[in-house]
Amino acid sequence: MPIFIGGAWPYANGSLHLGHLSSLLPGDILARYYRMKGEDVLYVSGSDCHGTPIAIRAEKEGVEPSAIADFYHQEFTECFRQLGFSYDLYTRTDAPHHYHYVQELFLRLLNSGCLELREVGQTYCPACSKFLPDRYVEGTCPRCGAHARGDQCEACQSVLDPTDLTERRCKLCGAEPETRSTQHYYLLLSRFQEELERYAREAEGWRENAVHLTRRYLEEGLVDRAATRDLPWGIDVPVEGFEGKKIYVWIEAVSGYWTASRKWAEDTGNDYLPFWSEGALAYYIHGKDNIPFHTVILPALLLGSGGLHLPDRIVSGEYLTLEGQKISTSRGWAVWVPDVLERYEPDSLRYFITVNSPEKHDGDFSWHEFIRSHNGELVNAFGNFVHRSLVFIVKSFDGRVPNGRLDESIERELRGLYDRMSALIEKAELKKALEECFGFIRRANKYFDERKPWSEVQTNPPHAADTLYTCVQIIANLERLLSPFLPFACAKLAGFLGEPRPLSELSEPDTETFQADALQSHRWAFTEVASGTVLGSIEPLFARIDPAREAEETERLAAKLKA
Ligand code: MF3
Ligand code: ZN
Repeated sequence: MPIFIGGAWPYANGSLHLGHLSSLLPGDILARYYRMKGEDVLYVSGSDCHGTPIAIRAEKEGVEPSAIADFYHQEFTECFRQLGFSYDLYTRTDAPHHYHYVQELFLRLLNSGCLELREVGQTYCPACSKFLPDRYVEGTCPRCGAHARGDQCEACQSVLDPTDLTERRCKLCGAEPETRSTQHYYLLLSRFQEELERYAREAEGWRENAVHLTRRYLEEGLVDRAATRDLPWGIDVPVEGFEGKKIYVWIEAVSGYWTASRKWAEDTGNDYLPFWSEGALAYYIHGKDNIPFHTVILPALLLGSGGLHLPDRIVSGEYLTLEGQKISTSRGWAVWVPDVLERYEPDSLRYFITVNSPEKHDGDFSWHEFIRSHNGELVNAFGNFVHRSLVFIVKSFDGRVPNGRLDESIERELRGLYDRMSALIEKAELKKALEECFGFIRRANKYFDERKPWSEVQTNPPHAADTLYTCVQIIANLERLLSPFLPFACAKLAGFLGEPRPLSELSEPDTETFQADALQSHRWAFTEVASGTVLGSIEPLFARIDPAREAEETERLAAKLKA
């Protein structure tokens, strides 16, 4: 079955922090899992390079918006590479192909009657003498009364138009903006009301937050939304008389899933249509603030442009808090991905983010827990089981997988683990899937303790051989079961087992395509390593993190906090 995985497109106006990572990581885990299952996977994303924040920042710094976008796109690419994200294509919204295909899509929508020209009042700041970008209008949310930005109310998650707000202010100068008349195209969302109601009702495998929020939108009734903007930075509206106007950034950004698929097809000679047709299974991975754009706007665009396959699974993460508090980039309360990657292993982050993942309610990152879980689970449970087993084989069996029999109940458990983890992963319940696996690892350590191979090897060598043969099979299967989650550690494990796997999918920093094809032999299925196999050289799987680092990191956080 063609599996499409769309990772959200981070704004190229600031570094990635752990909140971004927690909302994006499920995409890579799913992609790796489905490739191992042998499915055709297309996993795409890119940097969101347009939009007001970048334009405003460029203006402040006296540089071109493209310079800001270039800088962060580079940084994102490097972070994703280091984290092992296996995108088939990681591109950007200011790339020529995106520009071209978005204009094509816009015209399709125009021709199918989904866009309508309207004379509208638009927020204009007389003091700044310009039309104001949505998020530079602030005021009171008409739905909940909270202080809100012109594009969205963070308090109640409503999608807003700046003219909806009351008590409006220009964010740049504080003056009261006025409304001026101009022409814009409107996306006729209201036309899709019934179709989207049916779609949402029949949806399966959406996170709870997406189900609720989308239901609320639909109950409130869909409102037509401006599809074009007066902005200097973005994709030109491909219609005469619209010079200087741009396609609304969200319409354009969510189209990126489709434009990137086409670009991938062009680059690789593959067909993108199977991923966008009936019979595909499409996952969309993002943070909860992105929900309406993926469950309402994107489906409307896809329906309006001629029956492209709609999102099936909505994997919308809750927020990750930091030391119990909301992450705030403006306050400097964040752990930045490029910074943390200088001191910690990508798999430690992948592990922690997944088991503390904000799937059903907000998750929290704290340095204390991070170090505790790394040392407790990765080092003491997983790493230790691997190390004690393989070192024993090196010492007592000449570094060869002994000739023994696989413990039947362990085999049954391992086979069951594939099924149980599959079911959970496919539902994007990744935290539970990983916990299942670590539950089994504790059981494996107990097996080793109970069998006491260190004394068996003296008293009953064939028993010791059975034990270690069984331990090797556990390790070989953990290597597969954990590969989607901990790709670096598992590649190392494969080497220990004498079957080094190239890390091709994790290298190539300077190409847009991170991953080639999953190796045919590395499947999501029970495996057994043959007796006599010569082990590779063994080293610790994970390095312990000194608990004293907690104080260091806490100080580092405090030092960056802005008053
Ligand atoms: N740039 C947006 C954000 O960071 C996400 C865009 S996801 C897309 O919130 F699908 F719209 F591209
Ligand atoms: Zn509100």
